[in-house]
Amino acid sequence: ELSPIDKAKFVAAKRAADFVEDGMRVGLGTGSTAAWLVRCLGEMVRDEGLKIKGVPTSTRTAELARDVGIEVISLDEARWLDLTIDGADEFDGDLNLIKGGGGALLQEKIVATASDQMVVIADVGKEVETLGNFPLPVEVIPFGWQTTQALIEETLISMDVLGRTSTLRMNGDTPFITDEGNHILDLHLNRIGNARQLALVINQMPGVVENGLFIDICDTVVIGFGDGRVELRD
Ligand code: A5P
Repeated sequence: ELSPIDKAKFVAAKRAADFVEDGMRVGLGTGSTAAWLVRCLGEMVRDEGLKIKGVPTSTRTAELARDVGIEVISLDEARWLDLTIDGADEFDGDLNLIKGGGGALLQEKIVATASDQMVVIADVGKEVETLGNFPLPVEVIPFGWQTTQALIEETLISMDVLGRTSTLRMNGDTPFITDEGNHILDLHLNRIGNARQLALVINQMPGVVENGLFIDICDTVVIGFGDGRVELRD
């Protein structure tokens, strides 16, 4: 028996799997919600003969996809994708997102941008009026990361955000390392007034590789509820 939160994630994933058709190249997201999706698609491949090629957004997802029997190809082999289905940490009324709680934001953003369509699957708890309560992940190269951090914090002073502190994401006693060999700074902003502008400004800084704001990338959000209901936003 699933907990209400897992049930919400599962029903959202199950509904989103309906978007997947024979012959599609599908971007496979990362995180606990996306993992439900990958398992659903694996079942459809096995039981219904669904034929797809999956492009994973992390080593974790690649492993799971292979385990459940999905044919995995690289983004370079696929070049473009019909559809990407991924989770999110927050989504707002314009379907803008914060992603990267799982640390895979860079590959996730590259894959989603290469896709004709991005569908986000999320439990209703991820819905917010204004983005920013969830700390914004920013992927930075390890060289000079403290200098990059100081530059980001200085710049935030002039931006429409409430909080300005940031923390280096850790994995036990050592800095978290992404699939691309970088670090992650989590920005505690509380409320992001102008997400579009903030995303641009952060990405201008030397040392920054990518930020977790997904602006105008997501087309549809499938929202799951603990009682098994599903709602679509697009
Ligand atoms: C991974 O880097 C993230 O972008 C995930 O999509 C996000 O953290 C959602 O994860 P859950 O589905 O586990 O909440």
